Amino acid sequence: MQMDRRQFVRAMMTGGTALAAAPLLESCCGAGVAGKEARDPPADLLPGLDRYRTEILFFASLAPSGHNVQPWVVRIEDADRWVVGADASRRLPAVDPQNRELMLSIGAFTENLALAASASGYEAEIEVLAGSTFDADLLQVRLQVAEPRDYPLQRLSSRRTLRGGYSNVELRRDDVSALSEPLADRALFIPPSSPQAAYLRETAVESFRAQTWRDDAQEELAEWVRFDDDAVFAHRDGLTMASMEISGIAACFVRLFADDVMSKNFREQGIKKTAKLAGQGGGWLVVTSADDSVAELIETGRRWQRMNLLLHELGIAAHPMSQMLEEEPWRGELADQLELTGMPQFILRVGYVDDYPDPVSPRRPVSWFVRR
Ligand SMILES: Cc1cc2nc3c(=O)[nH]c(=O)nc-3n(C[C@H](O)[C@H](O)[C@H](O)COP(=O)(O)O)c2cc1C
Repeated sequence: MQMDRRQFVRAMMTGGTALAAAPLLESCCGAGVAGKEARDPPADLLPGLDRYRTEILFFASLAPSGHNVQPWVVRIEDADRWVVGADASRRLPAVDPQNRELMLSIGAFTENLALAASASGYEAEIEVLAGSTFDADLLQVRLQVAEPRDYPLQRLSSRRTLRGGYSNVELRRDDVSALSEPLADRALFIPPSSPQAAYLRETAVESFRAQTWRDDAQEELAEWVRFDDDAVFAHRDGLTMASMEISGIAACFVRLFADDVMSKNFREQGIKKTAKLAGQGGGWLVVTSADDSVAELIETGRRWQRMNLLLHELGIAAHPMSQMLEEEPWRGELADQLELTGMPQFILRVGYVDDYPDPVSPRRPVSWFVRR
């Protein structure tokens, strides 16, 4: 059980010394680490689906999504024909008004689904149904029996977004090639010593600052921040203290004294942290697409996820810093500043990391997003 603010202050006052308060601090800071427990594989089968098919949907749900909204919904037409759509209640209109990021997240979900299917002896044939990023039905999946592919599914369950602790050593050429391979001509590596990297470091902070002080964007974020374990387990989505990499005493104080996302304190802490992170890393990886059609955005999300799944084994982390793609003037000027030929879809800060902790971001159970 978590202490509330009043109980904490009272305990500090009556406890006197920091030593006396230590167990109290521990009880308060120990919470908020939920994650692993809130992303468990399905215990029950979905009606009409066997274990393989239920697990394919579970693996799909381990995909990344903006603010961890998990915008997917799956309609089971029959055991081998599913329609993947967008859950309109999980849109982020303030930061993603065109559903661009929603399409990229659906792409990542689709890639996980196809990989999990192939490892289970199915080919997932994907047909894009939507003509607009606002359509409810986005794509159809048909499962066909195929030779099982030897793909390590543990890559899907151990992938996570990791933002802190990057080395400043430039990414080696062979690692850049390995990461670029699934992205083909959609990837551009920007070395940390280049003028473009200096531009990105500054832009990451300035665009984050602009968004943080935009009240509609901050109100939208507030809906997805889960401050304690009760909220994590009730929603099993959104951004938790652990997934935002706020831990220990810092998590305790954020939860007790800055648990209002709209407060000056919360906003300033976020800007400070972003400035620190933007200075870390071994370069930037820009992911582009040829256009912003539904099919192209989904394909870009799929390829980006294929790249994400290589990161852990290479000891590399990648942090999407999306505010510069969401806020003007940066959104409009970025392609020119970086001399891109395609349209930028992800700006990733990348770097070597010594420690790769397990994923902590919660996931909704399969039965919450599957309809019949
Ligand atoms: C389209 C998209 C945009 C994202 N933008 C950001 C971002 O600007 N900053 C950030 O810290 N994480 C960003 N993320 C990462 C998500 O926050 C993360 O995937 C989500 O919280 C789930 O956590 P996980 O990746 O560890 O499973 C983005 C993810 C996606 C798919």
